[in-house]
Amino acid sequence: MKLAIFISGRGSNMEAIASAVEHGVLRGIATIELVLSNNPEAKGLEVARSMNIPTAVVVSKGKKRQEFDREVMALLADKEIDYIVLAGFMRRLTAEFTGRYAGKIINIHPADTRQHRGLHAYEWAWENRLDMTMITIHYVNEKIDDGQIIAQAPVDLRGAKSLEEVEKRGLAVEHVFYAQTLAKLFSGKLK
Ligand code: GRF
Repeated sequence: MKLAIFISGRGSNMEAIASAVEHGVLRGIATIELVLSNNPEAKGLEVARSMNIPTAVVVSKGKKRQEFDREVMALLADKEIDYIVLAGFMRRLTAEFTGRYAGKIINIHPADTRQHRGLHAYEWAWENRLDMTMITIHYVNEKIDDGQIIAQAPVDLRGAKSLEEVEKRGLAVEHVFYAQTLAKLFSGKLK
């Protein structure tokens, strides 16, 4: 499968997926055609460049959603992209965009999307002193963290002493689970 990965910041999930493509569960299953960021300052862009992955920036600041999405669609038009993988991409996409790539856009959200949507999901788990949170991988529609759930993985938060620890435990699960789930999906083992 040919992937475009969309990021806005740190890019640690993108890096984990790229490593899995190089020498892990996605090897021989997927290639990364492009890492795209809406934020020119995204740290993940440097990470992608250092891994020799093509990068692109489409600046979103000051643009209407439709204008930004059309620019991205124009950029992707001549590439054969099978799936768009969102990894810390902080923009809601228009129905025009999600319709164009229906069933082909995937996101990872660090909570159960039936319980908490939007930003600050680890803060939410920490502030509510949850014993467990659920990483959710789901299809993307025009609403925030709303699309059909593909797979979920629990994160054990028992005994966590700080928000940093909650995030650290969660990200460790995210990094393994995203690549694993994509590998299963692309091999027809998931719907
Ligand atoms: C992750 O927690 C992801 O689940 C959420 O945003 C964060 C992105 O981190 N959607 P990174 O940019 O992949 O390091």
